[in-house]
Amino acid sequence: MEKVISDIGIISENENSKDNMLVSRDCDTGKKRKLYIESYGCQMNFSDSEIVTSILKKEDFDTTSQSEKADLILINTCSIRERAEQTVRNRLNHFNSLKKKRPDITVGVLGCMAERLKSKLLEEEKIVDLVVGPDAYRDLPNLVNKVDEGHKAVNTFLSREETYADITPVRLNSNGVTAFISIMRGCDNMCSFCVVPFTRGRERSRDPESIVREARDLLDRGYREITLLGQNVDSYKWSPNSDLHGRARIERADERKVVNFAELLEMVAKIDPGLRIRFSTSHPKDITDDVLYTMKRFDNICKYIHLPAQSGNSRVLKMMNRTYSRKWYIQKIDSIRTILGEECGISSDMIAGFCTETEEEHKDTISLMEYAQYDFSYMFIYSERPGTPAEKKFQDDVPLETKKRRLNEIIAKQQEISLARNKKDVNKVHKVLIEGVSKRSGEHLQGRNSANKVVVFPRKNHEKGQYVDVLVTDCTTATLIGKTIN
Ligand code: SAH
Ligand code: SF4
Ligand code: F3S
Repeated sequence: MEKVISDIGIISENENSKDNMLVSRDCDTGKKRKLYIESYGCQMNFSDSEIVTSILKKEDFDTTSQSEKADLILINTCSIRERAEQTVRNRLNHFNSLKKKRPDITVGVLGCMAERLKSKLLEEEKIVDLVVGPDAYRDLPNLVNKVDEGHKAVNTFLSREETYADITPVRLNSNGVTAFISIMRGCDNMCSFCVVPFTRGRERSRDPESIVREARDLLDRGYREITLLGQNVDSYKWSPNSDLHGRARIERADERKVVNFAELLEMVAKIDPGLRIRFSTSHPKDITDDVLYTMKRFDNICKYIHLPAQSGNSRVLKMMNRTYSRKWYIQKIDSIRTILGEECGISSDMIAGFCTETEEEHKDTISLMEYAQYDFSYMFIYSERPGTPAEKKFQDDVPLETKKRRLNEIIAKQQEISLARNKKDVNKVHKVLIEGVSKRSGEHLQGRNSANKVVVFPRKNHEKGQYVDVLVTDCTTATLIGKTIN
């Protein structure tokens, strides 16, 4: 694992997987107690940790980057693959040795694993005092009090309404230039392999006005790029009153109209031409031409789409309950290329060795990758998750060795395509938003172009947060290398 230290947060990265880790930073404002929070999983989990930090900062907590100095240790967990849960259990063992030295510290588990295992976690992991699911973070101060009084505390209630719309996140993983904004929670899709609908509950969309407000506030604080986040952003749909509770719903008739994702994109893009907009994740069944045309109309909406295919074979896609076929997916790729051009970045997620996948079907995945010409992909071995439809209905019958070999073939194909795609960017000028100093050398800066590719170039007197034109002169599979021309 490579450790990357940004100026504020620390992320440890593991190439080719989404098993990143985010740690709280040091911030001492003289409060009585210290919170250490460590997060795993997807960007939505990282965003949630920023909400949790915001909630606890209002109580008696400052944050620390060292678990040994904390009074409260929280671990925000992921259940997506078995390995993600194993990582968490290893960390809990580590915190166990800390707790032996300092029995007064409180250890809490948040996020998807908390939701999946609920109070079972208290039995399985004796050192855990606190178990809190993704929709129950507002209850944290109360739950921490309960632990202070000598009880164990659990809240894994899943809500149909909670979007934390009114909570301003404390940015943990921030370079001060790019930030994430959650626009919805949960997922209604029920892909057969996936645990998320069980750990995150029903899909609900956040009030667009609160999203625009948060984006404006970030712009005022110097941020230049925001990424709108959701498990399935294209099904974003907010209607008046949908997020008001009980009585308020009757008393406050709301005149505002229903807002879909294309409309939300437009609202956010109009805030300021200097504020770049990205979004993730798009589901192939839901992304519309309307969204593609909105992207085309606004220069500041980045030309990049994360469009996970999962498999290139229609029979496997059906078993996965992805609700689209290979043909449908290919039509979406064609629409993107027709409306947004060859230069639009496209990436995917792929699963190798799903239940009953044959060699021929695996080859369909490889040929789809070739057709789509992905700039990059996140690629995984199928990992059976307890309670999912696939676990109940199908046998996880592809041998591990075969899964690994297929994954390696998928990775090799992706590297070949990534390099070919990057070579097409050489000798062209790219508009890059500078995010900071390059990971490789202090003499270089790095940022991304509209298509989400990392671009590295000599520092000169450029600064973080500026837009620069970079002439790309060389590339690797993962990076474009060049020099600024303005
Ligand atoms: N909402 C997003 C995905 C979120 S999970 C979407 O629909 O695309 C991120 C990725 O993890 C998925 O796209 C899938 O490729 C992978 N994944 C999910 N469950 C998995 C499992 N059981 N085994 C292996 N990979 C899995
Ligand atoms: Fe999981 Fe499918 Fe929902 Fe994505 S769309 S979170 S893969 S169920
Ligand atoms: Fe993991 Fe939960 Fe995200 S399972 S990928 S942290 S939604």
